[in-house]
Amino acid sequence: MPLNLKTLTAIRFDGWKMRHLITLILAGVGTYAFLESRAEWSAMHRWNRAVGDMSLVLIALAMAFGPLSRLVPKIRGIMVWRREFGIYGVLLAIVHLVIILAGWIEWDLIQLFGYQFHPQGFYVMTQQGFGLANVIGLIALVYGIVLAVSSSNWSQRVLGGPVWKFLQQSSYVLWMLIVVHTAYFLYLHFQDYHKSVPDPNWAQWPFAVLVGGVLLLQIGAFVKTWRSRRGTSSTSGRAVKT
Ligand code: HEM
Repeated sequence: MPLNLKTLTAIRFDGWKMRHLITLILAGVGTYAFLESRAEWSAMHRWNRAVGDMSLVLIALAMAFGPLSRLVPKIRGIMVWRREFGIYGVLLAIVHLVIILAGWIEWDLIQLFGYQFHPQGFYVMTQQGFGLANVIGLIALVYGIVLAVSSSNWSQRVLGGPVWKFLQQSSYVLWMLIVVHTAYFLYLHFQDYHKSVPDPNWAQWPFAVLVGGVLLLQIGAFVKTWRSRRGTSSTSGRAVKT
């Protein structure tokens, strides 16, 4: 097919295939940008952080679309992107985990929970915070996989409207787990009083702005919904009285 203005305008930017492609490109470009931003770190840290950061950004955007479209109904069309952003966010989180398993703890799974091998031949607990943050990350990931798998039209039909909606609406729990997990690694993990510590992670402030932004949108949408419901119930109350 010749590539002219007619064929270009015939491409449906709102079709699901196009949405997958655009989200994939966004995920690739974003990961590359995060990767370049930390050239001084070892390959393992650079990659797992870049992939983790991009996963966080995609999931944050997916979380923001709901309240945003409630606040600005004109852009309600963005809601269809929630599914793809969520799915690729979870896929990147899986890659993030695999890099940590292969490159950091080298498949010695007990290390994920904060244990280290002692020269005398047994494991000792040395990093409680690391273990807890990883457990939170694992729970978030399992939850994210369940949400991503159940976000198809097929599972919507199988589960039925109310059950499906309940499952998807509990994505706030997933978001909170991810926020706690990331905050630990950005603000707490690389701090020590008896070892030299790396420079603060540049992502600390952007992360705070991102989390604050999502929270503000959620509060705004909540207040708007509450006001409009109150308006509706007071008008219907007046209607009954008259
Ligand atoms: C939905 C799931 C997850 C998301 C969105 C996520 C996201 C993130 C983010 C954004 C960071 C901070 C990156 C930075 O320093 O800039 C991070 C760090 C980290 N995450 Fe996750 N994570 C998830 C699941 C997991 C799981 C399952 C594990 C392991 C069990 C894990 C282990 C780690 C570790 C070890 C770090 C520190 C990385 C480093 O300093 O190199 N994460 N994660």
